Amino acid sequence: MAEDTTPLDYSLFQYKGFNLIANVHQVPFLDTLENFGIRDSDVFAVTYPKSGTIWMQHILGLMHYSNDLDGPVSKLTVQVVPWLEVQLPIRKNQDPATLTSPRLHVTHLPQYLMPKGLRKKKGKVIYVARNPKDVVVSFYHFHNYSLTLETPTSFDHFLEKFLHGQVFGSSWFDHIKEWYKHKEEFDFLYITYEEMVKDLRAAVVKISNFLGKQIDDRTIETIVDKCTFKNMRCNPSANYQMIPKTFLDHNKGVFMRKGKVGDWKNHFTVAQNERFDKVYQEKMKEVPLDFIWDIN
Ligand code: A3P
Repeated sequence: MAEDTTPLDYSLFQYKGFNLIANVHQVPFLDTLENFGIRDSDVFAVTYPKSGTIWMQHILGLMHYSNDLDGPVSKLTVQVVPWLEVQLPIRKNQDPATLTSPRLHVTHLPQYLMPKGLRKKKGKVIYVARNPKDVVVSFYHFHNYSLTLETPTSFDHFLEKFLHGQVFGSSWFDHIKEWYKHKEEFDFLYITYEEMVKDLRAAVVKISNFLGKQIDDRTIETIVDKCTFKNMRCNPSANYQMIPKTFLDHNKGVFMRKGKVGDWKNHFTVAQNERFDKVYQEKMKEVPLDFIWDIN
């Protein structure tokens, strides 16, 4: 598959070089984001798809509304921490300038499409990264039940598209490298899915410290408990079961699928793994060593 010659699948379009979803993202709205006015208290969770986005959204929502767990945080997590790049019906007539602080957002956008004001270190950015081998497996399963994305013909074919960045979110390699290279321009926290799996409590404390929150131990325990895979999986406000059937065919898959580190080993052949490693080494060679985790 040649890098720049294979057309994007029917469900995608490019916005300023970044692949978005045709019937989800709208250009006039995207054009407004550059001048989205940033406040010091704004928080943006940034991820490449399938890297633990909903997990970070849920943590942030609980953290910000920990004094009022029956209040805003009892709503759908995607409403409490909405997508920056999606004009949801609930926000259609709502000027972001009128929303009360703190405004929590989530985004898959690359750093160059973020609101200009964020670069002045107003607002905070939390970048969640995940082993790309697990990302591609999770993404493949998601495509199989998403009704807004093309159904893959095979895992092998999908893997090639992923390696060439011909998927929603474009190239995983570009996304993480670009954000990492520009991190000094933002008030930035980098965290991995793997460290969240290994020690969720430590991850929650790390996030809370970064946000400058004073959260007592009991509340931290409550947040951790509500954010385990087991508890989120059966929580309708977090498990995507409430996402309309026009977007997801819930008979064909579940959003909270496995929540494991290393599931790629159940999917990759030896040849696919070798191919992946070769591309990874080539594309990531300019990134400092302290950033690279053991992808195997
Ligand atoms: P799997 O498909 O590997 O299970 P995103 O929200 O970025 O789309 O990421 C979805 C992935 O994060 C899914 O991975 C999902 O199961 C996993 N995930 C969500 N919440 C989680 C949690 N509390 N613990 C572990 N994994 C979680």
